[in-house]
Amino acid sequence: MNEELVYNKNYIPMTRSELIIRLKEALKDKRFQHVLRVEETAIKLAEQYGVDVEKASIAGLCHDYAKQRPAEDFIAEIKKKGLNPLLLDYGNAIWHGVVGAELIKDELGIWDEDILNAVRHHTTGAPIMTKLEQIIYMADYIEPGRDFAGVKKARVITAANLQAGVAYQTKHTLTYLIENGKPVYPKTIDTYNAWVPQYEGEID
Ligand SMILES: [Fe+2]
Ligand SMILES: [Fe+2]
Repeated sequence: MNEELVYNKNYIPMTRSELIIRLKEALKDKRFQHVLRVEETAIKLAEQYGVDVEKASIAGLCHDYAKQRPAEDFIAEIKKKGLNPLLLDYGNAIWHGVVGAELIKDELGIWDEDILNAVRHHTTGAPIMTKLEQIIYMADYIEPGRDFAGVKKARVITAANLQAGVAYQTKHTLTYLIENGKPVYPKTIDTYNAWVPQYEGEID
């Protein structure tokens, strides 16, 4: 993606190169490089699945904007915005998406709900997701730097059927959480029920 790209002002009030500067300030290099790969993967999926490429670029770049913020920032934002108090029982893994979207709105001036929802739902999924949300959810999971058992299969499934990719990731993430005795955010279970049984035949 061209560094000098001027985004649609309704999406974000800055150019891509200005956004890159903000991301470099907010993230350590390893995380910043991941974000670039998510953007690249999201753009390819957007081209394939007929989604706005600029939105895919912005959402891909911004999805982990808040990942390295201290817990106090998220707790303050949950209270300031009157978000679900249940969130306080969870941690960064959930907050950086759900609460991170609010920080992006406040600090980067992104008001486009489609982009914000893509950031919001990249950690938990949601029962109903737009194609952009599905793309960011999957791009984060399959970007070329990812290396885990099943990632190749996730890439193949996502290339053939985006929605089946969402089901595959959701099933495997929930399985991982349960096998490791980790807490499950209720929305993740809603995501599972909405996606996995429906696409089970395509992800085995
Ligand atoms: Fe993330
Ligand atoms: Fe990520």
